[in-house]
Amino acid sequence: MKRSEVALEVNGEPRWLLARGADTLLEALRGQLGLTGAKPGCENGDCGACTVIVDGTPVKSCMMLAHEAAGRRVRTVEGLAGTAAQRAFVARFAFQCGYCTSGFLMVAQALCEAHPGADEDRMLEWLRSNICRCTGYEEIRSAVRDAVRAAAAGEAAPPGGGREREREPVGADADAQRAVAADGARRGGGERPEREPAPAGQAATRAVAADGARSGGA
Ligand code: FES
Ligand code: FES
Repeated sequence: MKRSEVALEVNGEPRWLLARGADTLLEALRGQLGLTGAKPGCENGDCGACTVIVDGTPVKSCMMLAHEAAGRRVRTVEGLAGTAAQRAFVARFAFQCGYCTSGFLMVAQALCEAHPGADEDRMLEWLRSNICRCTGYEEIRSAVRDAVRAAAAGEAAPPGGGREREREPVGADADAQRAVAADGARRGGGERPEREPAPAGQAATRAVAADGARSGGA
């Protein structure tokens, strides 16, 4: 299947991918951009290990096509350094094997930004989207409680405000990015089996987004 270019913003930087129609955002982030913080768990929309934030909403990146991310603002756990959520997870030791941690961190950060000072019910509702196979839920909830309190005190963002950079004009940087994307596609993506056409995946993605909007974005 032919690859085509996808331009998007990742952690405040303009990035470019070469993706087939059926490539997921998770595959593209990991295989082409080297952002391996989002984890492949179930790859079926159930566990949340692959969660990233797209335009402010937590999204399961295994259920979103790379092409659906065109023109969107994507944040991954690599962009959360120094946030209240990250500090709270460290302070509360809210991980065991850590496989679920980046997904929980993304949900926690999105919650802090959408609902600083969120009450217990809202927090539990948001966390319901993610699974910890080590069952370390008490520590995770404690950490997220701390994070939303810190967010209410204006401390959700990393030191310095964490404002994402303005988009740079496409230029030499774009050419370099395209070269990296092409290289990543050759090395990482070429051997994967082709997937079935996308419509089912797109419908599922919309369902996840709608669910996220219902549970979190309201
Ligand atoms: S990998 Fe489990 S929801 Fe995406
Ligand atoms: S800490 Fe192991 S899956 Fe959550």
